[in-house]
Amino acid sequence: MGDLAREAPGARLRSIGGMDLPPGPRAPALWQTVAWMARPAAFLRRAHDTFGDPVTIRTYWTEEPMVLFSHPDAVREVFRLDPAVAPAGESWEFLRPFAGPHSILLLDGEAHLRERRLMAAPFHGERMRAYAPIVAELARRELSTWSGRVSALERMRQLTLEIILRVVFGAQGDREIAQLRDAVEDTLDIVRSLPTMLAMAVVRRDLGRRSPWGRFRVAVERFDALLLDLVARRRAEPRGDSVLAMLLEQRDAAGNPPTDRHLRDQLVALLVGGHDSSAASLGWAFERLARHPAVHERLREDDPAYLEAVVKEVLRVRPALTIAPRRLLQPVRIAGTALPAGVQVAACLWLALRREDLWPEAAAFRPERWLEGPAPNPMSWIPFGGGMRRCVGAPFAEMEMREVLRAAADLRIRPGHPEGERATRSMLVLTPHRGAEVLVG
Ligand code: HEM
Repeated sequence: MGDLAREAPGARLRSIGGMDLPPGPRAPALWQTVAWMARPAAFLRRAHDTFGDPVTIRTYWTEEPMVLFSHPDAVREVFRLDPAVAPAGESWEFLRPFAGPHSILLLDGEAHLRERRLMAAPFHGERMRAYAPIVAELARRELSTWSGRVSALERMRQLTLEIILRVVFGAQGDREIAQLRDAVEDTLDIVRSLPTMLAMAVVRRDLGRRSPWGRFRVAVERFDALLLDLVARRRAEPRGDSVLAMLLEQRDAAGNPPTDRHLRDQLVALLVGGHDSSAASLGWAFERLARHPAVHERLREDDPAYLEAVVKEVLRVRPALTIAPRRLLQPVRIAGTALPAGVQVAACLWLALRREDLWPEAAAFRPERWLEGPAPNPMSWIPFGGGMRRCVGAPFAEMEMREVLRAAADLRIRPGHPEGERATRSMLVLTPHRGAEVLVG
């Protein structure tokens, strides 16, 4: 990996939103919000190329300006920030109506660590060996239906949802699965639509059943009823070795089992964290493989090291999430830059994964880079974030990608359009703008 260039820190502050912050785009917050949602990769690249690292952006995503860092030393400092000074949960407050009060996503400090210990148990390495054959079977079944023009993203949404419902939620039987699937899709479809998301970001209130937040509330209520019913049935009659079955075994410090509401919030956190992110990453995998037949060809050799390299390279060159944000409650200094309380800071995953000084020909999809040369700086390969908030489901996500790509090795695909697809934002994740269209056969 190349030399790490370093800018003189702190020299270039500018007044943004009444605070002295590193410079960034001067366009109004509304314009930046539209660019952040519709053309996130181009927006980040341009902001970085014009203003360097760090750069401050202003979007309706958060009420405060956000300072993005991508240098690995700065990224390490962001991940090490004390949660009492820089809680991550506050950056996800807008998810509260869906995530619920017990959600790991919203908690910080001791409560977050306690929750994390409980939720990490089902995601240990040996559990992945138990889940892998089920995931492989579901992937083979899905891919066997592909023919003609296919939106790989859409199909991966269906597959990853089915995997979550069966393996994580422990749902069984076609009726149970279909009911849950419909309720999840009704809920997520509202927030996946770009115009609705914009409307929800600008008007942050529930203005009745027909307004975006009102429709979302009604969909969440329907989903909750099904989820609480599922939890009650599994509690009464434990079956299988799903993630939910393991979560039912949890005991708090006083030896009490979790309440139904707590389990509901854990399942929703796993759904929010794991569904769209995995579907987007797999959608991108097909989008890239269709345009790199030599890589796809080499997958057919069934070499575990190469498969691993493809998974890592997809997550690097097309990360599903762009930032790991924290909200500053007190002033801090990050990589020499003094930042005031009230601002958001983020490790910018997208920019860190595209640094030319760390990833030569950073925009190129080249799995071979993982088989040659030294291992990358751990603070530069960060598609799963880092520190004590690093993705709980990362082992599951990587296992899922390995199994789906292994199952897809013999598939014959071509790109649905000659030019590569650009990134657009769908709820929290970056997705290919044409839905990763491929021609099969
Ligand atoms: C390729 C797929 C995935 C990607 C790219 C991804 C990425 C991430 C990222 C960037 C974070 C935030 C880290 C931070 O703030 O530092 C996160 C958190 C989280 N992810 Fe994932 N994730 C993926 C799949 C999954 C799966 C499959 C699950 C569960 C089944 C999951 C569950 C979670 C949870 C519960 C958190 C919150 C952790 C915490 O706050 O302590 N993720 N993920």
